[in-house]
Amino acid sequence: MAELPPFYDDLVACHDELWRRLEQGVADRNSGFHTPALATVDLHGRPQVRTVVLRDADRAAGTLRIHCDRRSEKAVEIAATGSAALQAYDRDAKIQIRVDGTAELHTDDWFAESIWTEAQPMSRAVYGIVPGPGTALLNGGGYTLPGADEAILAGRDNFGVVVIRAERLEFLYLDRRGHRRALWLRSDAGWVETWLAP
Ligand SMILES: Cc1cc2nc3c(=O)[nH]c(=O)nc-3n(C[C@H](O)[C@H](O)[C@H](O)COP(=O)(O)O)c2cc1C
Repeated sequence: MAELPPFYDDLVACHDELWRRLEQGVADRNSGFHTPALATVDLHGRPQVRTVVLRDADRAAGTLRIHCDRRSEKAVEIAATGSAALQAYDRDAKIQIRVDGTAELHTDDWFAESIWTEAQPMSRAVYGIVPGPGTALLNGGGYTLPGADEAILAGRDNFGVVVIRAERLEFLYLDRRGHRRALWLRSDAGWVETWLAP
């Protein structure tokens, strides 16, 4: 049987592993943490969940970043509630990470502007879609996207950056010798940690 991982019975190492996996997820398309599920609560109080790309994980700040169209349901829900959760599972690592926190939508500020400026034309083009995301269409192809050149400007007004500030982090490692589940809650003095029964 494979050796137990070094974080197995070490809460500090579990925290390191959690952030290492999230950071790796930003860069590595093959990581299960590259495309977490983003959960929000809609205007009727119902849960909503969808896949997003993880764009940044900042361990020091305890924040995660995703991008979205400000016209989308998720953007509207985050602006209204100020909260969101992320969940991802990497099958090879046998690790699930759950993040629950406050969420802020940036659209017209310097922060969104600086990220937009760095984005590739291909990435920008989706924000120029007409009509906006979630609009009912008469046929599946009844929408337009700007060409690569137009994309430089076309979607800027629709571009949104969401920063999730984790208030609660959860780590679950699956092993037939005994799963390990750990929780961290943000406090004024830093993260407060505990093991949880899996
Ligand atoms: C692999 C994958 C990655 C995605 N990445 C994003 C993303 O980074 N941002 C985003 O807004 N939507 C992304 N989507 C689309 C969303 O899952 C969703 O279908 C869409 O944004 C509409 O969601 P909403 O109506 O709940 O806002 C992605 C979908 C897939 C399958």
